[in-house]
Amino acid sequence: MPKLQIEGFGTFAVGHGQRLVRAIETNGVDILHRCGGYARCTTCRVAFSAGEPPTMTVAERDKLDEKGLIGQVRLSCQIVCDNDMALRPLMTLSESGLPDPGPTPHDTVTPEPAWVSLPET
Ligand code: FES
Repeated sequence: MPKLQIEGFGTFAVGHGQRLVRAIETNGVDILHRCGGYARCTTCRVAFSAGEPPTMTVAERDKLDEKGLIGQVRLSCQIVCDNDMALRPLMTLSESGLPDPGPTPHDTVTPEPAWVSLPET
């Protein structure tokens, strides 16, 4: 099982292929996911220190490009756990002042993923 190291929270064994945003939340981090995992809000953003996946979904690429965030953050709703990772969640419910983290993301990546290589930065 892949190991997920979440800065400030610990290291956890996660299900192979589990959606990253769900794995983070399941292990006690109140990460935001305001759009419900559809690559629209960017509140599920994380910063990788190790194990960043070499591919991303077209939906993630387009949203990060639109926001000028390519090369800075990744969207945890658009990533599956298939290798060891170390990261820092960047937007949490407790720090946001919002009433809830957003709709629960599906178990699988939405919208239907099309995978591409990381863009040049
Ligand atoms: S972009 Fe909204 S939950 Fe990931």
